[in-house]
Amino acid sequence: RKKKTLLDFYNMKKRDEKVVWITGYSAPQARFCEQAGVDMILIGDSGGMCLLGYDSTIPVTMEEMIVMSKAVRRGAPNTWIIGDMPFMSYQKSNESAVENAGRFIKAGCDSIKLEGGKCVCSQIRAITDAGIVVYAHLGMTPQSSNSFGGYKAQGRTVNSARAIIEDAYAVQEAGAKFLLLEAVPPEISLYLAEQLDIPVYGIGGGMCDGQLLIISDVIGEFQLFTPKFVKKYASIADTIVNAITEYKKDVQNKTFPEDPLHCYHIFKKHKEGIEKLME
Ligand code: KIV
Ligand code: NA
Repeated sequence: RKKKTLLDFYNMKKRDEKVVWITGYSAPQARFCEQAGVDMILIGDSGGMCLLGYDSTIPVTMEEMIVMSKAVRRGAPNTWIIGDMPFMSYQKSNESAVENAGRFIKAGCDSIKLEGGKCVCSQIRAITDAGIVVYAHLGMTPQSSNSFGGYKAQGRTVNSARAIIEDAYAVQEAGAKFLLLEAVPPEISLYLAEQLDIPVYGIGGGMCDGQLLIISDVIGEFQLFTPKFVKKYASIADTIVNAITEYKKDVQNKTFPEDPLHCYHIFKKHKEGIEKLME
């Protein structure tokens, strides 16, 4: 299959065809996503929690993001992928933002995503001027969740909604090619999808130009908590725990391994010689 491009996604917005994206952190996950035919894969810094076991996205490093990005590229060679800039990889300066964004592109990403509105517009402009496609992420932005008092939906009050709407116009003006809204009222997403020229996607943002979910939520792998906006399509954790439990029982009951099914036998002409070794 042919990899979709930015123009395809812009045409999908015009035709009101929904873009489907999902996160991925490993080569097998990326392969599953490509087989299912998703439009784009986000290597989210959520991989810090869903794959690496951190209890937030704050500790995630550029090095970890690059390892996951390269794995996803290898697993999904024909899918548009987005590298998620980790905490402190773009906040400090335009120079470090451009340098780190470039590392994602050199690792095989087609684009990058960063969190924030007006406060990161100079970084969005600098990265865009370097020829890199930027996704802006507004609403409940996990890297700054301490300033909201935790993982809380945004845009539910006049002041919060105004801030999101102003930020959305600002990031478009700064050059962002896509906008992602997380955990905001559907009325705001729909309004912005209609008003902005760039595609507006949601995760917990109701219907807009497309949807994102975290793969670990979709397949039922992440066990610590499930946000309200998640729809769970499988319970892979149960499947995996059952498989490992069955394996454990088989070994304890001496029903695995089975000879000859799981065993390598001595070549006939070496049988005598090897038997001699063991006398
Ligand atoms: O890291 C991530 O997966 C994200 C989404 C939750 C939007 O940024
Ligand atoms: Na993220």
